[in-house]
Amino acid sequence: MTADTVQVELGPRSYDIVIGAGTLSRLGDHLRATTGSDRVAVVTDETVHALHGASIASALSDFRTHVIVRPEGEAQKSMEGLDAVLDSLFRAGFDRSDTILAFGGGVIGDLTGFAASVFKRGATFVQVPTTLLAQVDSSVGGKTAINNAYGKNLVGAFHQPRLVLIDTDLLQTLPERQVKAGYAEIVKYGLIDRPEFFMALDDELGADVLALEPAALREAISVSCTAKAAVVAQDERESGTRALLNLGHTFAHALELQAGYDGGLLHGEAVSAGMDMAFEFSHRLGLCPAQEASRIHRHLSRLGMPTRADMGLFLSDPAALIDHMRQDKKNEGGRLTLILARGIGQSFIDRSVSEPDLLDYLKDIAAPMDIRS
Ligand code: NAD
Ligand code: GLY
Repeated sequence: MTADTVQVELGPRSYDIVIGAGTLSRLGDHLRATTGSDRVAVVTDETVHALHGASIASALSDFRTHVIVRPEGEAQKSMEGLDAVLDSLFRAGFDRSDTILAFGGGVIGDLTGFAASVFKRGATFVQVPTTLLAQVDSSVGGKTAINNAYGKNLVGAFHQPRLVLIDTDLLQTLPERQVKAGYAEIVKYGLIDRPEFFMALDDELGADVLALEPAALREAISVSCTAKAAVVAQDERESGTRALLNLGHTFAHALELQAGYDGGLLHGEAVSAGMDMAFEFSHRLGLCPAQEASRIHRHLSRLGMPTRADMGLFLSDPAALIDHMRQDKKNEGGRLTLILARGIGQSFIDRSVSEPDLLDYLKDIAAPMDIRS
């Protein structure tokens, strides 16, 4: 079994991301080398536990383990979900030298990471992500959070994991819709600053990733983690560059709010459409050539990924969308901030987006019309 290793360089808090098929069987060795603990709390959800609980139990057979199984779904990222995890850790007598391991998608990763950050003022945390989205995005970089009545991810902490172990075999059970949602975040890295990666995805790599071909998964996940690790190393706490990772996300978050978080629109689906919109809007502002915006739209459509054209009713209220965008965490001094682009791989942070221009665009696309060739 061969694996790639990507390092997240954060001085004393640096850590490895291990990527490959079958890496779960080596989890014990990696844990011993990085954490030194002999006791591990595995936090997972019901679906992942049913599908892969036996595999992680076998990988951890030399450790004392305590398994915390939560229902699946975004609702777990709440005070109740947090309380349930912390309560179970206290009842089992865990201390800070033990390891708290997230085994699931982004929901379990965000919830467990936040629990680890506050458990006795901060415990050792490890990520074993099981969705494509978590393997290329949420497990790396230390953002942890729960939601509250005011919005998503508003209560959280930066708490870096000690290790991220990615086993691409775990993805073989992932529903196609979730695979596509994760693929959106892979495309994002090409569009931010890796044009050659986007070209490779557009050529054959993207279709192979969606077909869950092992070599393609390993390559695309390695490039994605390398790209994310580079940004996080530069700007761990998002005082600048890290905002680039939000390409397409301002549109996406507004669409998600319109959709309501009931599973009707997955985060990655909204990001896919949001990137299409960010490039279309960039073109309208005269920043991005039409051919480049169209190429992205064609790539997404060809692979059955959602685009702006699939957002229908979620686009029907431009004023509400703008309202949602005004709440975005990236905004400063009341000015809208968007990630826009001068072309594929040439994204930049625009901190003074004209609200009338944006509203005009949203009004135009609310009425069915397509400015692309
Ligand atoms: P998720 O965790 O809800 O997982 C999606 C579904 O897939 C769930 O039903 C889960 O049970 C199931 N599942 C997980 N692994 C599986 C497998 N191997 N086989 C079959 N089914 C499996 O969703 P997600 O898309 O992974 O994560 C979304 C969350 O991630 C959101 O809460 C979002 O805010 C967060 N997020 C965080 C960051 C960050 O930097 N921390 C970045 C992006 C997204
Ligand atoms: N997913 C965006 C970030 O980690 O900053």
